[in-house]
Amino acid sequence: MSHGKLDALRNAGPLILPSMLMCNFGNLERELGLLEDAGVQGYHLDVMDGVFVPNFTYGMTIVAAIRKLTKLPLDVHLMMQNPLQYIDDFADAGADIITFHAEAVDDPLPVIERIHARGLPAGIAINSKTPVSKIEAVLPRCELALLMSIEAGFGGQKFEEHVLSKFQQVRDIAGPEIVLEVDGGINKETIRSAAEAGAELLVVGSAIFRQADYKEALDELNSVVGNSTHRVTPTNGL
Ligand code: DX5
Ligand code: ZN
Repeated sequence: MSHGKLDALRNAGPLILPSMLMCNFGNLERELGLLEDAGVQGYHLDVMDGVFVPNFTYGMTIVAAIRKLTKLPLDVHLMMQNPLQYIDDFADAGADIITFHAEAVDDPLPVIERIHARGLPAGIAINSKTPVSKIEAVLPRCELALLMSIEAGFGGQKFEEHVLSKFQQVRDIAGPEIVLEVDGGINKETIRSAAEAGAELLVVGSAIFRQADYKEALDELNSVVGNSTHRVTPTNGL
């Protein structure tokens, strides 16, 4: 299956996706306007249910509200138990990519199949402490792997360097097609090593939203990544 919006993001990579966790929800339209003026090409939306993670954020209503305000791709990161029950809701709300956590399900396959049935690319996420072996069997069925560089739940945590080696591991298992995404603690000090390790989509929360000027923050992060041209190539002959 070809997934135009995911392909477009990847082709622009390494690409920064703002995580909207810390944005000003009181004026979403203004926030999106500022970010799009600063050149962002997609949004990362963090859904937390207070069960899979202790934090609670928002659900499909906010995804739908953002959908009405932008044409850019919406990369929805589900940090919730029982994601299968809600795939249709998030697809209806306008998600372009749906990613769920391997730790949240007994069997990821029905979730992947449900996302595909809605014509969307499926992403599988693992927390920083979860080994790649946990998702090895289903990686070939996914279009995206989200390697968390923290334990999911809160913005503003510290980047865990040991995660860097997982990008090549996933590439070796899943080949050149799968899109690699990193999330957690990405800032001007850590973004370059994440991109050099093979992350193509770089999720950034506090390093944008805790700054007064989003464009300045994005320009600075982009200039660091712009210096990084190395891309991980498959080593398994694919
Ligand atoms: C955390 C979320 C992240 C988070 C990133 O569980 O998935 O997307 O908002 O925020 P920073 O960049 O501050 O770590
Ligand atoms: Zn996220």
